[in-house]
Amino acid sequence: MPTSPEDPAATSPPADPEIRRLREMLASAGRLAEFGRFAAQQIHELRQPLFAIKGLGQLLLEKERVELDEVLDFARHIVEQSERLTALVSNLRQLSVPAPSAAAARTEVATLLLRVTSLLDLRLRKGGVTLRTQIAPDLPPLAAAPHAVEQILINLLGNALDAVASSGQPVVQVRARVMAESPRFAAIEVADNGSGIAKAVRDRLFESFFTTKGDEQGTGLGLAVSREIARGAGGELVLLDEPGVWNEPASTVFRLTLPVSQGL
Ligand SMILES: Nc1ncnc2c1ncn2[C@@H]1O[C@H](COP(=O)(O)OP(=O)(O)O)[C@@H](O)[C@H]1O
Ligand SMILES: [Mg+2]
Repeated sequence: MPTSPEDPAATSPPADPEIRRLREMLASAGRLAEFGRFAAQQIHELRQPLFAIKGLGQLLLEKERVELDEVLDFARHIVEQSERLTALVSNLRQLSVPAPSAAAARTEVATLLLRVTSLLDLRLRKGGVTLRTQIAPDLPPLAAAPHAVEQILINLLGNALDAVASSGQPVVQVRARVMAESPRFAAIEVADNGSGIAKAVRDRLFESFFTTKGDEQGTGLGLAVSREIARGAGGELVLLDEPGVWNEPASTVFRLTLPVSQGL
């Protein structure tokens, strides 16, 4: 077949079945790798309250004698830390499981966004990040499976949080609305006021394994996989050339477009 390897059109359909199969395999490997990293972060979060509880218990055991006030104080801390653990575990349990049937390809953006931001709550709070979300009241449900949209948003928000890590006043904004120019699609935009993206890097962002975060911190698969998922759902994921107009400062904006469900 006359396909040249450096032909960028190799990404456009109809692709060679073998190439398509490889792309699908890469996408699922990427999903796993990204999920692994997310799980590792969550495990790190779980260990902190666990260590705190253990430490408090050990401190008590090592004391020769203890005052009642002291015991009560420790008990309060232990309950507090346990509540943190409970909240974390319940967030993890809310992760969507891929739905087996196409009938489940319907996503309420507001509900999903709440779930995703509660998963990232600790990172947001730790980084002192202001999160602003704005969802158009007339936004219909998306014609896409919740776990797909969830994964893309976790990737985008995770990147935004990495990007604002050294901002003085970190702000992440998310807005969702029907696209005026093509009303069968909704656009979900994720903006951050991080350092922005250098021109040389812009063209390579969506390449698999492209990362500027080093091997420890980055897989370089988040955007590649997210774009693959978006396209698989009949949508698209792009980096905007210009951030556009936002209430708070924004330097980088990714736009996810997905079809909305018709005839509710
Ligand atoms: N919001 C953002 N601000 C600045 N750079 C970004 C942002 N999102 C992605 N990038 C850049 O794109 C690269 C690829 O992102 P991604 O595919 O998610 O992989 P990873 O996050 O593992 O590095 C990142 O390493 C970073 O350089
Ligand atoms: Mg990423």
